[in-house]
Amino acid sequence: MSAFDQIPRSPIVHSPTPLESLPRLAERLGIRSLYIKRDDCTGLAGGGNKARKLEYLVADALLAGADTLITIGGIQSNHARQTAAAAARFGLRCMLVLEDVPGTPKTDYYNNGNLLLDKLLGAEVHICEDGDCDALAEKLAKKVRSTGNTPYIIPVGGSNELGAMGYVRCAREILEEIETHQLPIDRIVLASGSAGTQAGLLAGLLDAGRHIPVLGICVSRDGSSQQALVEALLDKVLQRMEIDQPLRPDLVQANGHYYGEGYGIPTAEMQKAVELVASGEGILLDPVYTGKAMAGLIDLCRMGEIGSDENVLFLHTGGSPGLFAYRELF
Ligand SMILES: Cc1ncc(COP(=O)(O)O)c(C=O)c1O
Repeated sequence: MSAFDQIPRSPIVHSPTPLESLPRLAERLGIRSLYIKRDDCTGLAGGGNKARKLEYLVADALLAGADTLITIGGIQSNHARQTAAAAARFGLRCMLVLEDVPGTPKTDYYNNGNLLLDKLLGAEVHICEDGDCDALAEKLAKKVRSTGNTPYIIPVGGSNELGAMGYVRCAREILEEIETHQLPIDRIVLASGSAGTQAGLLAGLLDAGRHIPVLGICVSRDGSSQQALVEALLDKVLQRMEIDQPLRPDLVQANGHYYGEGYGIPTAEMQKAVELVASGEGILLDPVYTGKAMAGLIDLCRMGEIGSDENVLFLHTGGSPGLFAYRELF
């Protein structure tokens, strides 16, 4: 058994998630074919990519004897919502440290979408007012310890080397589907934020010896900063998997042209992409991650940077509950 196969995992995800073909959207984009990996259908209280990471993080928490999960995110964090759901599922207490995101539409931001679900899922919400969310999380952990309980802090986005293992597993799942259905995938496109999804996916492909380019569309920082973030995490993931392989310099690709003015701040292209995919394919993207990633994919196809002969796989990482917090936009 490989080092990866020995890492403890608490099954949560409804897997394999569907992999569907979108021929009409492919035609509209002017590419040979477009597939979509439906990780919005991972099955954990609204789905999304974090469910895969949480399989490993929750297993680690349980092994450490934890009874309380603490994590950090923006007010409309999908990661926070899925952590709250995972905690409920395993009978754990959940504390969320959430901070406001300037520039986001406000009418429904504080009472709908992910935040509404966090509360429904039984999480305790702590708003971080001074920008130091790590300090607040540590303070809460100390308080939990003082009552004889055991906290487990999950980093932002669940993106450490353990959380990223969820996407090593997803890479294997995708490769199996490619093999079974003989799919000609030339490139994978996804939204890249705290980097665990992209780093895990790349590690899984490397481990399998498959060099499918993975393009991360940045949701919060410029391309070179994102590239550095993914590379640093990928290094740690490979170490944990005991894979000793030099990384090709062009392995990590990140495009920072589509996040607009900042994390969570809407762009006109995102809005159009969300509307196009909803009305044209019956698939709900989200305003913060997948909407911007799809806007990037559409534009790169339009400019010919993604060629007309390409077969692209778009990884749908979830987030549609966030739409309800952005109601005034749609
Ligand atoms: C819907 C959605 N897509 C993509 C991402 C980005 O994944 P990562 O943080 O692993 O880069 C997130 C992270 O929160 C997300 O919620």
